[in-house]
Amino acid sequence: MKVLSVVGARPQFVKLAPVAAECARRGVEHVIVHTGQHYDPMLSDVFFDDLGIPDPDVHLGVGSGTHGEQTGAILARMDAVLGAQAPDWVLVYGDTNSTLAGALSAVKLHLPVAHLEAGLRSFNRRMPEEHNRVLTDHAADLLLAPTLVAMGHLADEGLAGRAVHVGDVMVDVLMTVRAELADTPGVLERLGMPAGGFSVATVHRAENTDDPARLAAVVAALSQVDHPVVLLAHPRLRAKAAAHGIPLEGGALTVREPLAYPDLVAAVAASRGVVTDSGGLQKEAFVLRVPCTTVRAETEWVETVQLGWNVLVEPGPEVSAAASRPAPSPTDAAPYGTGHAAAAVLEALGAPG
Ligand code: UD1
Repeated sequence: MKVLSVVGARPQFVKLAPVAAECARRGVEHVIVHTGQHYDPMLSDVFFDDLGIPDPDVHLGVGSGTHGEQTGAILARMDAVLGAQAPDWVLVYGDTNSTLAGALSAVKLHLPVAHLEAGLRSFNRRMPEEHNRVLTDHAADLLLAPTLVAMGHLADEGLAGRAVHVGDVMVDVLMTVRAELADTPGVLERLGMPAGGFSVATVHRAENTDDPARLAAVVAALSQVDHPVVLLAHPRLRAKAAAHGIPLEGGALTVREPLAYPDLVAAVAASRGVVTDSGGLQKEAFVLRVPCTTVRAETEWVETVQLGWNVLVEPGPEVSAAASRPAPSPTDAAPYGTGHAAAAVLEALGAPG
């Protein structure tokens, strides 16, 4: 059996790691196509190195552009790759432009497509990720859902017959990395943060970075938190802050480069809270039992909110207040599974055991 994974952006490399390992364990041929959507070494190469992912077999090198340019460039370059590789399954991940383009290329060539992380919905049609999710789910042949809530959304859209609940592969990789963490004090020293006394912040979504007033309100709120906050600045954030003339440092706020995945896990596990607009980090905070403050009007990961470990806030004073709140009551709930999702994915693809 031959599986071809299409990845291109940071969260997809994290999800790819346990799938690549499970393919290797089962002797399944696995071809990795990197679209080149993310090309900075700290957003791409370090994930392959640190998570033991084999180097991509094919690199499309599409780089940045408008949504149409980026999606179109991937589409235009995929035909030859899929024609030459002729996989049994094309596997696409998450909700980026690389996901949609990978799915569409495969569908048009009549190759079976599976969507890993299917069924997530924010119901916010202004988000590019929401278009990517909905369109990919409706194009794909097999929908690999991380949660029961996601299964419900797929059923509501008439897609239950193609859906399988597999759990969340991000829990697989998080548990593996957490068990092997080596140098947490070194990570904290490099960040200049005190163990247990700081928050980790990330901001990169278009809805928060592209509107100058909204971005200024997020940054001002982070600078007013009552303990140190380290902001791990995504290139989009740096570019937009510079373009809008918004300084990122000040008050409680220190800015650092994005972290490699094991260092991010170490930092979050040693923090008192997370402030973010990332999807993955909301779950990582929950699994590590660190309170999360999400700067968005809605979340796809509703379980984190229902269980009391995540609160949604608007940019402004709400952010600082929520970031300073105490930890909620403990829970042993595991809505994202127990770290065996990659095996369930390979089962659903019909791979040998
Ligand atoms: C993308 C995904 C988002 C995901 C995020 C994770 C889409 C629509 N969005 O958002 O779902 O949560 O990745 O990080 O696919 N840039 C660099 N270096 C890079 C990559 C990007 O400088 O390696 C800059 C580019 O100039 C670009 C901007 O960052 O303009 C945004 O990159 P893009 O890939 O369009 O989207 P992300 O914001 O990273």
